Amino acid sequence: MALMTWTAEQYGTNVAFADEEHQVLFDLLNTLYDRATNGAARADVGESLDALIAYVVDHFAHEEKEMQAKGFAGYDAHKAEHDALVSTCADLQTKFHAGEADVTEDVGQMVKSWLDDHIPKFDKAYGPTLS
Ligand SMILES: [Fe+2]
Ligand SMILES: [Fe+2]
Repeated sequence: MALMTWTAEQYGTNVAFADEEHQVLFDLLNTLYDRATNGAARADVGESLDALIAYVVDHFAHEEKEMQAKGFAGYDAHKAEHDALVSTCADLQTKFHAGEADVTEDVGQMVKSWLDDHIPKFDKAYGPTLS
């Protein structure tokens, strides 16, 4: 079963690019989670992990650029949230490729919890400014 399913009610921001990117992000996370929890080859898990993290970095940069372009007041707090997740992801990515960590059920749940908190609380807040 998919770890995350996008619905407008739960995750809709009223900003088209963000809603589209969040759905791609959920798909990448679901693929990673499926591979990691179904005993896929480590190389395939790594490929999914790298793809998810690269997309997260691009998505955050896109949101930050749009928030700055519109002078969104919540920019600094929002960017700090992004930076914290990127730092956690970079650490995991380094450890995974060094053979010192694996992508576990807990990793999937951690990212899901982060998104479940961040999108409604932070991303929805830029809706009125960016839409
Ligand atoms: Fe977002
Ligand atoms: Fe965000």
